[in-house]
Amino acid sequence: MAKNAVITGWGFYAPSRVMTNAELERIVDTSDEWITSRTGIRERRIASDGETTSSMSTRAARVALDRARLRPQDVQMIIVGTCSPDYVFPATACMVQNDLGATRAGAFDIEAACTSFVSALAVARGMVVSGAIQNAVVIGAETLSRFLNWKDRTTCVLFGDGAGAVVLEASNASVGIESVILHSDGSQAEKLMIPAGGARIPATQGTLDRGQHLITMQGGDVFKLAVKSMADAAEEALAEAGLGLDDIALMVPHQANIRIIEQVAKRLHFPMERVFVNIQRYGNTSAASIPIAISEAEATGRLRRGDKVLLVAFGGGFTWGASVLEWFGAHDGVRPPGPLERARGAIEDVVERVRPV
Ligand code: UT7
Repeated sequence: MAKNAVITGWGFYAPSRVMTNAELERIVDTSDEWITSRTGIRERRIASDGETTSSMSTRAARVALDRARLRPQDVQMIIVGTCSPDYVFPATACMVQNDLGATRAGAFDIEAACTSFVSALAVARGMVVSGAIQNAVVIGAETLSRFLNWKDRTTCVLFGDGAGAVVLEASNASVGIESVILHSDGSQAEKLMIPAGGARIPATQGTLDRGQHLITMQGGDVFKLAVKSMADAAEEALAEAGLGLDDIALMVPHQANIRIIEQVAKRLHFPMERVFVNIQRYGNTSAASIPIAISEAEATGRLRRGDKVLLVAFGGGFTWGASVLEWFGAHDGVRPPGPLERARGAIEDVVERVRPV
């Protein structure tokens, strides 16, 4: 059984189409000033017609697998966290499995809205540490532009599209994903949801006419709960990892609103200099925001081997969670033992034991 699960690969994909606040001013009654001051968002990426949650996931996963120097055919599990899947079913992860050529991988989706990536990480970590699998590709990806009401200024200015992926592998290192905690409260589900198109309110011409297949949100209520829940979850994940905020080199929060992020940091007495923020360029990419942020943090030198990192998320459901991990980084040319090496090692152990002295 592996001692730990460590991130050995990471990558992201963002569509090339940039939609600025100025462009939104021409679509709804809003202003760059309102969006920037209330949310911190300056622009977001929008998927082109041919792009889907699975195609963006695959692109992010390829980068992560290259970094981990793992071949698609060696991948054992693909988990996609998303609330904007390609289809109601089959799972988006199955499209990714096929596109990657990950011929031996299991695949399934996890849906916990903006908390989907942290939830997927929790499941993958459990599978790796239990010894059930040696590796997993964990993806957070969304095409929320297809679920936005472009006449509703209270939501359409907030969200963006993209995908981020990490490779999680078994390791005998003494540290890895140190803790993951998850919580939920379904009593206020209607405050952030897509009401129709599921089994409770099936899609009809009426639901389409009323725009019930699109995102609705009571932003103010979500905001207040997000701040408290994210701060509480951060403290809980730290306590479970036996660490304090002083140990944390970088906090990577879900990017929903710069004011939420700042208030979480304030509540925790954690300096904003050690918080990663890229919401100004991507908006709220829901499940994709944390893995995109991890990749950008690494690319800009803000994540170094040995750094303790705090991930924290909040989303529809409501769902929220946090994780503390030690950044492992890329392999130094030495891969952890694969199945063949492990088998060879086991045989050598036996030979060693039966060898006459
Ligand atoms: O991803 C996880 C879940 N999502 C979130 O965490 C989002 C949480 N919520 C938020 O980020 C914020 O609540 C929003 C950004 C959605 C809204 O910010 P707010 O400061 O809570 O604004 P508000 O809803 O209280 O609205 C203030 C005013 C209203 O006008 P009146 O009633 O005061 O005249 C809105 O109609 O701002 C108006 N407004 C806008 N004005 C210009 C709302 N949206 C816009 C807009 N442009 N896009």
